[in-house]
Amino acid sequence: MDLLDNNNIPKHVAIIMDGNGRWANDRNLPRLAGHKEGVNTVREIVEIASEIEIETLTLFTFSSENWKRPKVEVSSLMKLLVSSIRKELKELVSNNIIFDFFGDLSKMDDSIINELNKAKNSTENNDGMRLNLALSYGSRQEIVNAIKSIVRDHRNNDINDINEDLVAKYLLTSGISDPDLLIRTGGDFRLSNFLLWQIAYTELIINDNYWPEFSKSDFISSIKEFQSRERRYGRVKN
Ligand code: IPE
Ligand code: IPE
Ligand code: MG
Repeated sequence: MDLLDNNNIPKHVAIIMDGNGRWANDRNLPRLAGHKEGVNTVREIVEIASEIEIETLTLFTFSSENWKRPKVEVSSLMKLLVSSIRKELKELVSNNIIFDFFGDLSKMDDSIINELNKAKNSTENNDGMRLNLALSYGSRQEIVNAIKSIVRDHRNNDINDINEDLVAKYLLTSGISDPDLLIRTGGDFRLSNFLLWQIAYTELIINDNYWPEFSKSDFISSIKEFQSRERRYGRVKN
């Protein structure tokens, strides 16, 4: 097996963790069983990502549009989120992981936000991998909100003050570098409203496995695939 090139580890990997429902359906299980199994994959992938010294891992955990799912699925996902964070917190702390989250949190219960903040505070003195959960997150909404804030704050300024750096500062990912690699599991070739601005030059990998069956070795293969890509940013080959 080829080894990873340690000089070309993507700094920021983002993942659209898709396919929990189909994984469960294939096994005649309720969708929730797929989400539960998906939590195990999260643990494994956080572990391996931190081991190979990825600086930032961003996981698409719940989209703005996922609120439109049946109430029972939404509420069980929220419960699972809280119980998983409670369960995993010790491990996150001891693995030196910095936990963070972003999204339209106005839609989430205070009790959930409290739990998330607790995890964030408990890991704030760590200095290892940054783990971001995108929760109640939709990129178009994020961009609309950024535009509103820019108009509010820059009404009286020169219009030329508005540039890419300024826009990026008004996004929920302010201060986080753009992803180098985006992996989507579950085989679908779409972005589903995830990080539209941020992935302008991100390398994309679609993995056919459903999230619950996505393994550490699938993750490493994706990193290798990333390392074989030539990122040209619109220029010609050197
Ligand atoms: C991803 O799996 C998890 C969330 C979106 C919360 P899905 O629940 O979308 O599973 P599929 O895509 O229906 O199989
Ligand atoms: C994207 O998956 C959202 C998350 C993984 C959290 P979806 O299952 O919601 O996306 P669509 O509906 O297939 O586009
Ligand atoms: Mg899905």
